[in-house]
Amino acid sequence: MSTQIPKQTEESTETETEAAEPASKGDERRAEKRRRAAERREQRQAEEAEKAAADESTVELKVFRYDPQVEGKQEPRFDTFHVPFTKGMTVLDALMYARDTYDSSLTFRHSCRQAVCGSDAMFVNGGQKLACKTQISELEQPVRVEPLPHAEVRKDLVVDMEHFYDQMESVEPYFQTNEYPDGELEEQRQDRENREKIKMSTRCIWCGACMSSCNVAAGDNEYLGPAAINKAYRFAMDEREGEEIKQKRLEIIEQEHGVWRCQTQFSCTEVCPKDIPLTEHIQELKREAVKNNLKFW
Ligand code: SF4
Ligand code: FES
Repeated sequence: MSTQIPKQTEESTETETEAAEPASKGDERRAEKRRRAAERREQRQAEEAEKAAADESTVELKVFRYDPQVEGKQEPRFDTFHVPFTKGMTVLDALMYARDTYDSSLTFRHSCRQAVCGSDAMFVNGGQKLACKTQISELEQPVRVEPLPHAEVRKDLVVDMEHFYDQMESVEPYFQTNEYPDGELEEQRQDRENREKIKMSTRCIWCGACMSSCNVAAGDNEYLGPAAINKAYRFAMDEREGEEIKQKRLEIIEQEHGVWRCQTQFSCTEVCPKDIPLTEHIQELKREAVKNNLKFW
């Protein structure tokens, strides 16, 4: 409101002047300049007010805390932090502020801060999310931050990823072929259609969010899990690997704790931060496995 009062005064002064004597072209130009300057001043004041309001509002974080190595911190609890909100703030930004300002022992993983490394998957307001990709402005407060469920907690928000990595390794997540070119190694070309088919599956950043959301994985520790099966899909569907290797891959995913354990609950697909259609890929591998086992006499 205060920004509007000076404008009204200026405008009325100009109008009175104009009424008293006809304005020359120079007067009009000067009046126009004054009007524009006043507009700019108002806009600047409004922006500063908005920034000040944003800086003054705070985010309430409730963060899971646990440290098995420190006496007095072995009992899991939630600590509350109030962090000044800034436009564009992510959950990771808020956690970093809390750590750097209030408690340097607050522990969580992060690296790239742009949804590429997969290291900061957490349980935010009841869902698996990448902290660096999740905007505070889109969350209800208080924002509750917990470690990924279904994994052993090492400290605070850090979970043991060993089992997840073992499952990923078990599907042999690297390119193989039984037809190496004669002589010099050369580029292995893939046609555009085949590239399109596997494109989404190549986006996995090994964050573990899908595995953590999966009820089947929670009840069956040996289940390969959506990420590993997606990784198997990425190679089994790559035409450059050849039929023999595909056969071997189908045997891996068809094992007792493989694709047939999936109950198509879609939770993995819902939480994947890279939008990989995991359930669809698992279903397609089931169909491939059936086709592979069909025999005609
Ligand atoms: S499939 Fe998606 S949710 Fe699962 S590990 Fe990869 S990126 Fe994360
Ligand atoms: S910090 Fe790398 S994915 Fe979030």
